[in-house]
Order: sequence, then C-alpha cells, then structure tokens
Amino acid sequence: MSLESRKEVVTHSPEETIRLGYELAQTLRQPSLVLLEGELGSGKTTLVKGLVAGLGAAREEDVTSPSFTLVHEYGRDRRVYHADLYRVEGSREFGTLGLDDLLEQPATVIVEWGEKFLGQDVAAQVRIHMELLEGDERRITIENLDP
Ligand SMILES: Nc1ncnc2c1ncn2[C@@H]1O[C@H](COP(=O)(O)OP(=O)(O)OP(=O)(O)O)[C@@H](O)[C@H]1O
Ligand SMILES: [Mg+2]
Repeated sequence: MSLESRKEVVTHSPEETIRLGYELAQTLRQPSLVLLEGELGSGKTTLVKGLVAGLGAAREEDVTSPSFTLVHEYGRDRRVYHADLYRVEGSREFGTLGLDDLLEQPATVIVEWGEKFLGQDVAAQVRIHMELLEGDERRITIENLDP
C-alpha cells in the first residue's frame, strides 16, 4: 500500500480486514498515531490485530479489545500502544491515560474511538474511518494526515 493521502477499501471478511492492517503497518513511521473511528462492531479491533501483528509487536490472537483496561501495550523493540476511548469521558479522565506521554516515545499509538482524542499534533498521523455495510462488508477509509 502506498502513502496516498486518502484511500477507500471495502473488505468482505474479518480476515481481509486483518490483511489490510498488515499492509497498513508497513507504511507507518515511528512515532505515529493511528486514530480509528466507526460504530460498535465496525471492525476497529479486528483491523488493529493486523496492524499490531504487521508491526511484529504481537500475534493477531493476542491482540484484544482494551475496552476495560483502556490501554494495551505490545512489543519491545517496536512498541505499540492500543487504546480504546469508548468509556472515556471528559478531559480529566482523558488526561489520566497519558496518551501524550506515550506519543513522546518512539512508539506507535493506535486509538479506537479516536474522534475523542484530544492530544497534541504529532509527527505522523493516520485517521481511519470504518463503516458497516451489508453482512460482512466494511468500508474502510484511510486518511494520511502527515504534514
Ligand atoms: N469485513 C470485516 N471486517 C472486520 N470485522 C468483520 C468483518 N466482517 C465481519 N466482521 C466481524 O465484525 C466484528 C467486528 O468486531 P470488532 O471488535 O473488530 O469491532 P470494533 O469496531 O472494535 O467494535 P467496538 O466499537 O465494540 O470496539 C467481529 O465479530 C468480526 O468478526
Ligand atoms: Mg474494538
């Protein structure tokens, strides 16, 4: 996958979405911030499995939803933080997550419900919007917000 500024893909299975995550992982710089948006069940966590595995930070099956713990950490040499802001409300609670601090590390930070992210501008940023279509179809729009 090239670093176009905007790309739209329709996937037809979870496996296909995971594969897209692997491809996308190859285009990410470090540090970078990946913001995932889209309704419940649209496939955000599924895509993250591919992203994290594609970065070599964990196996697909070890990547699970951080909806209760809020942030998961994967990898050593290539560190990945995976956050889920669904339950996070208000800037105070948000601040306690320390996502801005994570972004100061040479890490990849992936955020579900990324529209709630209130952080500072970072060097590289990708915004991904996921939409439920019919059945197992998902429309995935990837916007590269690199300066
Ligand atoms: N093309 C597809 N891409 C991704 N997931 C799919 C696809 N087709 C079916 N699915 C199924 O949809 C569900 C997506 O769940 P997932 O946890 O990834 O969504 P989510 O957006 O992270 O939800 P939440 O907002 O609750 O965190 C899974 O059960 C997955 O198997
Ligand atoms: Mg999820």
